[in-house]
Amino acid sequence: MAKKTIRDVDVAGRRVLVRVDFNVPLTDEGEVADDTRIRGALPTIEYLREQGARLILTSHLGRPKGEPKEELRLNSVAARLSQLIDAPVRKVDRLTGPEVTEAADSLQAGEVLLLENSRFDPRETKNDPELAQELCRLADLYVNDAFGAAHRAHATTAGVAACLPAVSGFLMQAELDALQGLVDSPKHPFVAVLGGAKVTDKIGVIERFLDLADQILIGGAMCFTFFKAQGLDVGASRVEDEAGIETARRALEKAGKSDCELVLPRDLVVADRFAEDAEAKVVAVGDIPPGWMGLDIGPETADEYERRILDAAQVFWNGPMGVFEMDRFAEGTRGIARAMAESPAFTVVGGGDSVAAVQQLGLAERMGHVSTGGGASLELIEGAELPGVAALEDR
Ligand code: 3PG
Repeated sequence: MAKKTIRDVDVAGRRVLVRVDFNVPLTDEGEVADDTRIRGALPTIEYLREQGARLILTSHLGRPKGEPKEELRLNSVAARLSQLIDAPVRKVDRLTGPEVTEAADSLQAGEVLLLENSRFDPRETKNDPELAQELCRLADLYVNDAFGAAHRAHATTAGVAACLPAVSGFLMQAELDALQGLVDSPKHPFVAVLGGAKVTDKIGVIERFLDLADQILIGGAMCFTFFKAQGLDVGASRVEDEAGIETARRALEKAGKSDCELVLPRDLVVADRFAEDAEAKVVAVGDIPPGWMGLDIGPETADEYERRILDAAQVFWNGPMGVFEMDRFAEGTRGIARAMAESPAFTVVGGGDSVAAVQQLGLAERMGHVSTGGGASLELIEGAELPGVAALEDR
């Protein structure tokens, strides 16, 4: 069911509590290292300012476990936002309380206030109704634009919707349209590219794609758990425990009965140790020398995956193909990003490392949709109802 958006309600002059996902990576000096998520919320923020709303923004940053942590204050986020909107952003050091009420009440039309990291308050992750009430008293309307946190049932992502009219922002809407569209009305051939470390983290999506997609292309360390499940020797490559191997075995079995092809690498880049300057070579799967480990998909596999992406009508990609942080083992991941950019398919990238790869290559603009949600996009694809979305009013 489509959700109401900020276009469906009157916002002029109203105090609007906007949940954003400003959970951004920081540098060692505490500066914003990647402002993608802040930029993602700009259409909503700019629209509300233009309409004369008074904005109270709230977000979490990291996992401070219910107490203030100096390095996780939202000060540098406020500074970055202020640069991006070219206007002052007032930042308070608390989430609720008299100082916050006073700041919210004194907002003029178009002005922006950013509350402190919501997870400094232990009541946030417990979805405490009292905290929700305190937040509700600050505002007249709740807008959720934090798609990246929509899979969390917390006070700022879901609880406040119980005591304020609740609608979605533009980023939330764009994410839901793109991701829900992939699974609700898939275009074929539908290719899913899945990488990353663990089969157990991705099993829900793998199973959903076995029903929905035509091909699932597997890369990243999780392919070794699949190889192990097939009884192949993987040398010193990273493999999951017995439960992970069993999960991979079941996925292979299900794939055998499904119309969807589960494709595993046929060659690999292997190294004698986990280091940028390790000795490395390309080998066929099954030929990993004892003590060596696979750190990227091989060139033949990359070619094959790229061809399949170019022939697709729709592609979803989550997770790197190799140890992308090390330049020598990043080629498989880069190849996927380039093929996605060239493909005529509707392409969707979800998840931190794949998004980082696309951005580093300057290819983000050439994707159909780049999701700001990692866990949230996977849960949505699995078919789960996201609490942050469920709490919003239906149109
Ligand atoms: C994310 O980065 O995926 C979201 O901001 C949610 O963060 P969390 O996993 O700490 O809840």
